[in-house]
Amino acid sequence: MHNQNLTWGQRDSAVNWHPFTAIKTAGEAVAIVRGEGAYLYDENGKRYIDAISSWWVNLHGHAHPYIAEQVYEQLRTLEHVIFAGFTHPSAVSLSEALLAVLPENQSRVFYSDNGSTAVEVALKMSLQYAYNRGEKKTKVLAFRQGYHGDTFGAMAVSGRSGWTEPFAELLFDVIHVDLPTAVNLAEIQAFIDQHADQIACFIYEPLVLGAGGMLIYEAEHLDALMRHCRSKHILLVQDEIFVGFGRTGRMFAADHLTEKPDMMCLSKGLTGGTMPLGVTTCTDAVYQAFSTDNVYGTLFHGHSFTANPLACRAALASMELLKSEETQASIARICRQHEAFRARIATHATINTDRQCVIRQCVVRQCVVRQCVVRQCGTILAMNLGGDGESSYFRNQYQHVFEALLQKGILLRPLGNVLYLVPPYCISNEDLESIYDSIIEVLE
Ligand SMILES: Cc1ncc(COP(=O)(O)O)c(C=O)c1O
Repeated sequence: MHNQNLTWGQRDSAVNWHPFTAIKTAGEAVAIVRGEGAYLYDENGKRYIDAISSWWVNLHGHAHPYIAEQVYEQLRTLEHVIFAGFTHPSAVSLSEALLAVLPENQSRVFYSDNGSTAVEVALKMSLQYAYNRGEKKTKVLAFRQGYHGDTFGAMAVSGRSGWTEPFAELLFDVIHVDLPTAVNLAEIQAFIDQHADQIACFIYEPLVLGAGGMLIYEAEHLDALMRHCRSKHILLVQDEIFVGFGRTGRMFAADHLTEKPDMMCLSKGLTGGTMPLGVTTCTDAVYQAFSTDNVYGTLFHGHSFTANPLACRAALASMELLKSEETQASIARICRQHEAFRARIATHATINTDRQCVIRQCVVRQCVVRQCVVRQCGTILAMNLGGDGESSYFRNQYQHVFEALLQKGILLRPLGNVLYLVPPYCISNEDLESIYDSIIEVLE
């Protein structure tokens, strides 16, 4: 029996195992009992600004009343139904709403229940697309620093690092390439050519590699790589799980590109951060490759909670809010505030002194990925702590930065030495300013 005299944090320590947490050194988890707008409140009543949208999922603020109302209404109508041979209005309406805003070549929606599963589905679709057409294509092309999730397939197509090391021998073969720049593009293309006939698909995070260290690269170079892969009949799988739904300043990263993918993966902001849901969309050409008399041509994939009605309804409500003028204006406002902050820290003379903290401005257009220290793509702002500018999750000597900001009531959980902001769109200018001021204070 639990002891009522203990705090939620203490009770948690006795029973829970938290994700991405080194259990030997981890302290007690902060117990959050309530959320409202951009704020989270812990069990002692302390308020935190959620500056990373709770692992990049929240778009409109916590406990949003409109999303809550819609989910409640759905809950009283239909909470769940099997999605094989059955459907429901919220899934149909959500697919229609998504296809209306995705690149026009996307024509079918396959539901799952989180980002990693959306990636698994895309990988299976790509590999089976080749299988169904009698082609022997079993390799995947991906970025060396990419991240696509923690299930086995998603892990395999992510970069190799300490995260994947214990499973290294079990991960299937992936052809990894560096992020494209004006300098290495031709070299990457030549390398792809050597393996092209074995490659089923190219999976990539467009414009920003999130968990790999918020690495930002040029749309123009990605377009060139996409064009090249298409010319070699390699399917393009665009993982917009992080960058979708306004993070880059536009609805999708696809809106910055001229080339169109064959498949897209969405999750995180899909439901406004309210409920788990994953989506893999594809073109009609991909879909038709599964329309066959041979039963083995079927995509035998599904999860118990595929297209859960509550999650679909939350996503519909979130889409409505996202398309509103108010949210679109907020996204533009956050982009402008970040730009002003970049200009401000560029002229900040006292940083980079005693503690070896380097903050330099880096305009995305000029950035050489590895040396870029402060960078921005839309509402995403990131900076490397430490001297040489290389991003690494395993440089966790910056735990004190996280703790100092938490003390100040700001939730900014760095990725190793990469400090970043991915705020919910409802965040106020005052809160953004207080985050910027606190970052500078803590680093000084
Ligand atoms: C680009 C990208 N793809 C896939 C995933 C995996 O999503 P999930 O954590 O919902 O499994 C993430 C999660 O951070 C991500 O950033």
